Amino acid sequence: MRLRKKHFAIPEMRENPYVFFNGEENKGKWKDVFGNDNPIYLEIGAGKGTFTIESAKKNKDINYIMVDIETNALIYATRKILDEELTNVRAMPINAENILEYFDKDELSRIYINFCNPWPKLKHKKRRLTFPRFLEKYKVILKAKSQIYFKTDDLELFEESLDYFSDCGFSTLVEEFDMKLEDYPENIVTEYERKFRKLNQKIKFGVFEYYRG
Ligand SMILES: C[S@@+](CC[C@H](N)C(=O)[O-])C[C@H]1O[C@@H](n2cnc3c(N)ncnc32)[C@H](O)[C@@H]1O
Repeated sequence: MRLRKKHFAIPEMRENPYVFFNGEENKGKWKDVFGNDNPIYLEIGAGKGTFTIESAKKNKDINYIMVDIETNALIYATRKILDEELTNVRAMPINAENILEYFDKDELSRIYINFCNPWPKLKHKKRRLTFPRFLEKYKVILKAKSQIYFKTDDLELFEESLDYFSDCGFSTLVEEFDMKLEDYPENIVTEYERKFRKLNQKIKFGVFEYYRG
């Protein structure tokens, strides 16, 4: 996502009590941040935040954390927390590569990855948010038998990600190469998903579970 530099983004986010620039201080203590024992779901690469915000409005008994490396996009996501007066959402402008600095073992109950950059060139594939070096980190911070929900428009990314998940010991619970909205009434459409559906692109959807014995 290429956006023109928004100079107001970081100063405005610093004023937002729901945004953490030193989120590593909350590692192992996110329950205290939310002030309850509700499950915590993380969205990685949240962009402008529609998915997490709409999810949080529907599921008040779930706590959501959205992260994105790009403050130019995340600024819009974090504004929506205030506009919608949501108390069950927090945000961090971070690189998912460093995710283990922010969450402790077993701290999360679910991870969402929606329309991450496909990085088609061989030398860039390791940047994919589903690449094994990322999955190995997610395995640490996810509770046993928790799931990763993954959507993309990109066939090659999806097919190769099925292999990544399998190679990293996840079982595939859902594997859809053409996710029809009527079959998933609970689905929340993301910003990118809306664009791709308008273009009649097939949306691929997978749910993967890791059981740590
Ligand atoms: C194509 S956009 C999708 C946005 C949103 N999830 C959606 O479906 O509309 C991918 C997002 O992932 C973010 N991203 C890419 N690499 C990242 C990383 N290593 N850590 C955190 N966010 C990342 C980008 O900044 C961008 O906002």
